[in-house]
Amino acid sequence: MIGDRFGRPLGSLRLSVTDRCNMRCGYCMPNENYVWLPRSSILSFEELDRIAGVFASLGARKVRLTGGEPLLRHDLDRLVALLAARPALADLALTTNGILLAEQAAALRRAGLRRVTVSLDTLRPERLREFARSDRHAAIVAGLDAARATGFESVKLNSVIIRGYNDDEVVPLLEFARDRGLELRYIEYMDVGGATRWSRADVVSRADLLATIERALGPVEPEPSRGAAPAERFRLADGTSFGIIASTTAPFCGDCDRSRVTADGTWLLCLYADRGFDLREPLRAGASDADLAALIAAAWAERTDRGAEVRLATPGRGVLHPIERLKADPRREMHTRGG
Ligand code: GTP
Ligand code: 5AD
Ligand code: SF4
Repeated sequence: MIGDRFGRPLGSLRLSVTDRCNMRCGYCMPNENYVWLPRSSILSFEELDRIAGVFASLGARKVRLTGGEPLLRHDLDRLVALLAARPALADLALTTNGILLAEQAAALRRAGLRRVTVSLDTLRPERLREFARSDRHAAIVAGLDAARATGFESVKLNSVIIRGYNDDEVVPLLEFARDRGLELRYIEYMDVGGATRWSRADVVSRADLLATIERALGPVEPEPSRGAAPAERFRLADGTSFGIIASTTAPFCGDCDRSRVTADGTWLLCLYADRGFDLREPLRAGASDADLAALIAAAWAERTDRGAEVRLATPGRGVLHPIERLKADPRREMHTRGG
C-alpha cells in the first residue's frame, strides 16, 4: 500500500456524484446563487467506476458516495452495482440528506450498498424550513426508517450542532437516535469552503457537547481507538454509543487516509485543499488504468495536507473563502467536495 509524506495510506475514497442539492443548509449552502459544474464535465457512472477501480488497485478499500445530494443522481443504484462488483472495495457507503431515501433504499441495498449515513440536524420541521429551506422533514424521517427496515449493515445519523440554531437539541437528538437504534454522530461546525457564515463563536465544541450530555444523561465513557475514522466514539451508562467529529477543535489529520473526487473528476487530497488534480482530462484523452494509477500514486507520495490542523493554528480564524473565490471556482465549495 502506498503512503504519503507522513506515511498515511490511501485508504478511503469519497466520490461525489453531483454538486446539486435539494436542501440549503445554513452551514453549507447559505447563499442565494451558486455556480454549478458544467453538465458536460460530470463523469458518467462508467468513468466514476473506473476511477474507483484505479484507487482500489492502489490500496483503497472504502468508497463513500457523496454529493451535493447523491440521490439526485438518476439511477444511482446502477453505480452502486458497478462498485459492488469490485471485491477489493470491502466497504461501500453513502452520505445523504435522506429526502429521497425512502423511495431508493431497497434498490440501493439490493445493488450492494452496505452502509448509509443520513444528515439531520433538527427534530423540528419548522427549524429545517428556516435553516435549510426545506419542508421535507417528514420525508427525511421516513428515509431513516426505510433505511433501518432495509437491513443495511449500519445506519448512522450526522448532526452538525451550531450555537443558536440547534444547540438545545443535543440531548433530544441522542434520544431520538437511541430510540431508533441509530448511531448518532455530532459534528462540530467547520470553517470549510461554502460555510460563509462561519464564526468561532457559533461552534459547539466536543467539550461543550460532552458537558451537555453528561449533565442530562449521566457519565460518558470513551470507547477504544477510532483508527482513521473522523468520529471518536463514546458510550452512556445504558450502553448507547454515539460519536463526535471534532474536526474544528481537535483535528485528526495525522491519521487521514481520505481523498475525494468531485463529480467533474477533480481529485482533492484534503477537504481544505485549494486545488486538486484533474483526472477527467486524462480519462477522456484515453489514459490507461496504469497511466491513471501512476499519476495518482505520484501525487499521493507527495501529499503533505493537514488542512484542519492548519486552520486550528490560524490566528483570528474566520471564513475560509469569501463568496467571490467560491464563485471563481465552485470546486472550493463543500457541497462540490462532498464533505
Ligand atoms: P464512516 O465511514 O462511517 O466513519 O463515515 P465518515 O464519518 O467518514 O463520513 P461522513 O460522510 O458521515 O462524514 C462525517 C463528517 O466528517 C462530515 O462532516 C465530513 O465533512 C467530515 N469529514 C469526513 N472526512 C473528513 C476529512 O477527511 N477531514 C475532515 N476534516 N472532516 C472530514
Ligand atoms: N460543518 C460541519 N459539517 C458540515 N457538513 C457540511 N457542511 C458542514 C460544515 N460547515 C456535513 C453535512 C454532512 C456531511 C457530509 O458534511 O452535514 O453530514
Ligand atoms: Fe484529512 Fe485534510 Fe480533513 Fe485533515 S483536514 S482530516 S488532512 S481531509
